[in-house]
Amino acid sequence: MQQAFRAAILHCLADPGESGDSAAHQYFEDGILVVEDGLVVMLGEAEAVLPQLDDGAELRDRRGSLIVPGLIDCHVHYPQIGIVGAYGEKLLDWLERYAFPAERRFADADHAREVARIFVEELIRNGTTTALVFASVHAHSVDAVFEAAAARNMRLIAGKVLMDSHSPESLSDDVETGYRDSRALIERWHGRGRLGYAITPRYALSSSLAQLGSAGRLAEAFPDTWIQTHLAENVDEVARVRRRFPDAGNYLDVYDRVGLLRERAVFAHCLHLEPAEVGRLAAAGGAVAHCPTSNLFLGSGLFDLRTLADAAVRVGLGTDVGAGTSLSLLATMSEAYKVLQLQDQTLPPTRALYLATLGAARALYLDDVIGNFAIGKEADFVVLDPAATPFSAQRTRDVESVEALLSALIVLGDDRHVAETWIYGREQTV
Ligand code: GUN
Ligand code: ZN
Repeated sequence: MQQAFRAAILHCLADPGESGDSAAHQYFEDGILVVEDGLVVMLGEAEAVLPQLDDGAELRDRRGSLIVPGLIDCHVHYPQIGIVGAYGEKLLDWLERYAFPAERRFADADHAREVARIFVEELIRNGTTTALVFASVHAHSVDAVFEAAAARNMRLIAGKVLMDSHSPESLSDDVETGYRDSRALIERWHGRGRLGYAITPRYALSSSLAQLGSAGRLAEAFPDTWIQTHLAENVDEVARVRRRFPDAGNYLDVYDRVGLLRERAVFAHCLHLEPAEVGRLAAAGGAVAHCPTSNLFLGSGLFDLRTLADAAVRVGLGTDVGAGTSLSLLATMSEAYKVLQLQDQTLPPTRALYLATLGAARALYLDDVIGNFAIGKEADFVVLDPAATPFSAQRTRDVESVEALLSALIVLGDDRHVAETWIYGREQTV
């Protein structure tokens, strides 16, 4: 049966760039999105679509709201949702003092299941319908988050963290168990429904060269899996990588040499890259997750979107909770804007939306199935209510354009403005 949604509807067709090119998005002020069997089947102005609806179509009137594609989080650590706002440290000390103790608790499978449930509910509350997720070192932490996502038919990619060196004993695997557990998880979960597996070496400093090599072999054996890790987040981290891997030409080269740089590899942060690394990322089809709330909270640095976009590197937004301070991609877009303002770059609102929808889908090599409302794509979408609070209602009442509306929603919006989250044509309740 057809389900039709009448509202203002906005989606991206391409990267709007720094100019906010209006040809890169499509906007229907009084639009209708039609969904059937979980897929988008029609989109257009209400006037044109209404006469074409099936007789039995169910029409939902959401006028006054803005429908956008489901938001995509390209980098988040679900075991860290309990440490958001843990203050006072930069990356390397923050990991020791806050992140590792939080992840140690995931040795308990019941704890993992409980946190995974809350995490998936929180994604939905925030309008996030796809995420690329770090679990913990424990294999059952991946089962827990996949089970929670599968119950909602959510498109989620996750992986067991690989970490066999310079890490707490209680959080360390080894080359053999890391490989075996990852392989078993791939065989159990990858491609099951809408789930995908990401091979997940934490970062160069927490894996031996032998473990990075075994992760690379896994990535070669399963070429349609994802790879996720961290790259050039913090200056002390970069300096240590140089000392520990003197043969590598640069940080990215540590990954590249072992086969961890390929399409579907997503590198979080990338704040301190050399020009050679930018060029190599682009050539190899690797993608970057830009995590502005984390970069600001840990004082890691400012992300240079212009340089990466000019080099045609794929970029999507990530929340990076728990170093990141919010699971909301609206809040993440707002901080991305400020990070660019500090560098005399700018982020038009439609480009911010692009980075959390079609751009993120491109970063994940999923733009054939999600990211916008092209006919045939999976019907993941969000109904945003600009009037959810008295303040935002007043602010958005007389806006002159969809760009102005979106900008206000990005800056003032939070989970209260996410009125409905639909996944594969089903409304999600939390
Ligand atoms: N680098 C290695 N591990 C982590 C992590 O958990 N969070 C962040 N922000 N950076 C990392
Ligand atoms: Zn991270």
